[in-house]
Amino acid sequence: MTRGELASTALRMSFVPQTHDAIILGAGAAGLMCAAIAGQRGRRVLLLDHAPEVGRKIVISGGGRCNFTNLHTAPDRYLSQNPHFARSALSRYTALDFLALVERYDIAWHEKTLGQLFCDGSARQIVAMLLAECAKGAVEVRCEAPISGVTHGDGLFAVSHSGGAEAKAPALVIATGGPSIPKMGATGFAYDLARQFGLKVVQPRPALVPLTLPAEEALFRELSGVSTPVRARSGKVGFDEAALFTHRGLSGPAILQVSSYWQHGEEVGIDFVPEADAGWLVAAKRARPKASLRRVLEEALPSRLADVLAERVGLAGDLGNVGDKALAAAEARLADWRFRPDGSEGFAKAEVTAGGIDTRGLSSKTMEAVKVPGLYAIGEAVDVTGWLGGYNFQWAWASGVAAGQAV
Ligand code: FDA
Repeated sequence: MTRGELASTALRMSFVPQTHDAIILGAGAAGLMCAAIAGQRGRRVLLLDHAPEVGRKIVISGGGRCNFTNLHTAPDRYLSQNPHFARSALSRYTALDFLALVERYDIAWHEKTLGQLFCDGSARQIVAMLLAECAKGAVEVRCEAPISGVTHGDGLFAVSHSGGAEAKAPALVIATGGPSIPKMGATGFAYDLARQFGLKVVQPRPALVPLTLPAEEALFRELSGVSTPVRARSGKVGFDEAALFTHRGLSGPAILQVSSYWQHGEEVGIDFVPEADAGWLVAAKRARPKASLRRVLEEALPSRLADVLAERVGLAGDLGNVGDKALAAAEARLADWRFRPDGSEGFAKAEVTAGGIDTRGLSSKTMEAVKVPGLYAIGEAVDVTGWLGGYNFQWAWASGVAAGQAV
């Protein structure tokens, strides 16, 4: 926009009266929920999104079946610089509350594992449910509505959008998510807008993301496609789930989980035999002295992985010829195999973004900015990041409800 165009837009906007009670930017999980709640309270709500359809991440989530919540939702399953922030909203809108909504719409669901609830059918059912909830509240939903500017004056937020339209409301909700998976329309717009209004942003970084291994780990990178249950650790945090080797490094749920905690330069520890009792290798030697380490490992692990681990550990020949001390050392190594990733696959592959709008500047009850009355931020845009397994949608629903009840 040229300076002249900007001036004429500002002039036109100053004459536009209040058009809505709340304008919500971003029609993803959090924005849809917030709009529905506010609309059903009688608020006149405008929901804007630049994408051609609402809830695109919901549609692709959970392999198309949307892992819409987790029964074990608890504040300690979220990362944030402000660890207690999520507690209030999560306790006021729980996994069971969302499940009750799903059941009201007769959407069939199942628990897959670890409290993770999925649709039996398509994730599109969740989007349709949220749109029906918005319709009940007479929410005005506009897609393909790029936002060209937001100003604030006389107690009203003025949003220019869709190449010339203007809307004004006393409440503005930032629900445009984080920059993970830009090809789905994800942007860092939330951060720019937050900064425009003086809010701080905790450095955003890719989370729930595959990690990459350096060239010297080529042996492991050749295992691409091999998956095995492990216990993966980053610092003091550990997850018992599957790890998957990829041609670039490590993925699978256990690795995605630790990636949210992992910092550049740190190691990730992997226990390849999480079910084994202490002393299992010495016990194997006593039981089968003629067996090789490779043979014993192959019984517990995929054979290609057993090959690589046996080669790296380097105990050749029959176990019967290896001293107990060397076997104990091998066992310890297999239980805490150290990888030093050289990076992650970045925002292009990250399921979520860690960091975001600093929650220390927001009310944990309403999601309203402490210093900018009327401005709210919800969902992935804020510095609250859940574990893998439905936790992130539960945060989107809960923070959306909190703001929807307040605007
Ligand atoms: P979300 O990203 O959903 O919505 C933001 C909206 O803002 C989008 O509609 C976007 O188009 C719009 N927008 C962005 N920039 C804009 C701009 N400049 N102008 C206008 N509009 C703009 N979580 C989970 O709990 N269970 C799961 O199964 C999965 N699965 C999953 C799979 C994949 C592949 C991904 C990438 C992510 C998941 N997630 C997940 C994470 C989950 O999708 C995520 O946490 C929520 O969608 C966040 O909801 P929000 O509404 O905050 O952002």
